[in-house]
Amino acid sequence: MPQRPLLSLSSICALLLGTLMGCGNGPPLEPDGWADAVALPTLVDENPDANIIEVSLEARVGKHSFQGGAPIDVWTYNGTTPGPTLHAKVGDTLIVHFKNSLPEETTIHWHGLRVPNSMDGSEVTQKPVPAGGSFDYTFKLEDAGTFWYHPHIRSNVQIEKGLYGAIIVDDPKAPDLGSEATLMLDDVLLDKQGNVSDPTTESDLEAYFGREGNVLLVNGKARPTIRARPGVPIRFRLIDTANSRYFKLALEGHRFTRVGGDMGLLTRAVTSETVMVIPGERNEVLLTPEGLAGDKLDVRWLPYDRGYGTGLPDPQTLFTLALEGEAPGGELAPLPEALGSITPLDTSHATTQSLRLTESIAGTVLRMGINDHHYGDPDELMIEVKVGETQIWELENTTMADHPFHLHGFRFQVLDVDGKAPPFPEWKDTQNIPAQKKVRFGVTFDDRPGMWMFHCHILDHQRLGMMGMLMVMP
Ligand code: C2O
Ligand code: CU
Repeated sequence: MPQRPLLSLSSICALLLGTLMGCGNGPPLEPDGWADAVALPTLVDENPDANIIEVSLEARVGKHSFQGGAPIDVWTYNGTTPGPTLHAKVGDTLIVHFKNSLPEETTIHWHGLRVPNSMDGSEVTQKPVPAGGSFDYTFKLEDAGTFWYHPHIRSNVQIEKGLYGAIIVDDPKAPDLGSEATLMLDDVLLDKQGNVSDPTTESDLEAYFGREGNVLLVNGKARPTIRARPGVPIRFRLIDTANSRYFKLALEGHRFTRVGGDMGLLTRAVTSETVMVIPGERNEVLLTPEGLAGDKLDVRWLPYDRGYGTGLPDPQTLFTLALEGEAPGGELAPLPEALGSITPLDTSHATTQSLRLTESIAGTVLRMGINDHHYGDPDELMIEVKVGETQIWELENTTMADHPFHLHGFRFQVLDVDGKAPPFPEWKDTQNIPAQKKVRFGVTFDDRPGMWMFHCHILDHQRLGMMGMLMVMP
């Protein structure tokens, strides 16, 4: 169900106009070109129908400079990494004319979008698009929120080489939360020559730890500077597109107000010192930079130990906010009490599906699995459910490390993490399963039968076998 604000748009605008949030047609609050350093191209809609977005996307080899030096070889969508942003509104029909000009086969998976099974872009729902081939993806955008697209063939290689892009689906009825920027958080492992270190040569042991890069990226750039006006909230849509890295962010003397997650706006805002996104996941936060013109505020990545430590033991500057102009006078209007509306999932008649995240070592062969099954083996895991059924998935992490668990095609509500219930229901498609802990979530399989996938979004763990299939029977 699309989220509806409890206040009408006009009442929210009345509430916000004359304040700092703005409602679209107020004066621009941020300096001209404030987010140029992290700007990405937008896919151009070639269809005159206001409710159809028709775009062309080509995967091809290209050049990019992550740190401002000489451009190096990367893989791109339409020539850029990250690829162009897809911007649409909820209810639109999307048509993507996809052409594969890479030297190998690929697909596109629409991470978080509830698409028909045949459009999911995983290896179990479509034949890979061969080098030189093309494929048309078409489906309706059912949910508003922040999503992303990426290949689902050799994901650990193709995504690392640069193939990913953002998807923003607006809800015209949602409250306007002011100026916004989408930040795809990633890292890249550059070798001594400054090239992307070849992910195909990595050992199972490296994969076990999960490839982490040595350069942190925001929209493909190392340490960009975003210009901002003091005292004016910015809405950041954060997407973790890294192969393995967890991004925990902090800005000294500031707090983040979390307003959205995987599937759009939360029911209410939550304020905290730090905000985290894990591979595959999204989070939307408001951040109000405080200070004077000329101040430079470093938003930092903080080490988070997901079980193996991390290659970067110290905090790092992820991006900088350079303050310009005067803080606007007057008080900030409070955020609307209700942002989105999310009905708690009824799990009273749900059956429980028990899944264990597992690992095994046999000689030098390292495997990761689910219920001790490894994807790609003859006995790979497949579970069967029926259309319309509601289940509780009980995920037990038997390993010593956290795993970001992603379910394709269906959204779920976390019921508890290590026995503790979240403060309010929230729709998600990617959830951290902490080491040695149990997470339970509820999920209803709506009428989109077919084979779907679920896996760890540490792409190396997916490669080592931590992936299973879900057959939704008509
Ligand atoms: Cu981002 Cu199988 O997914
Ligand atoms: Cu994992």
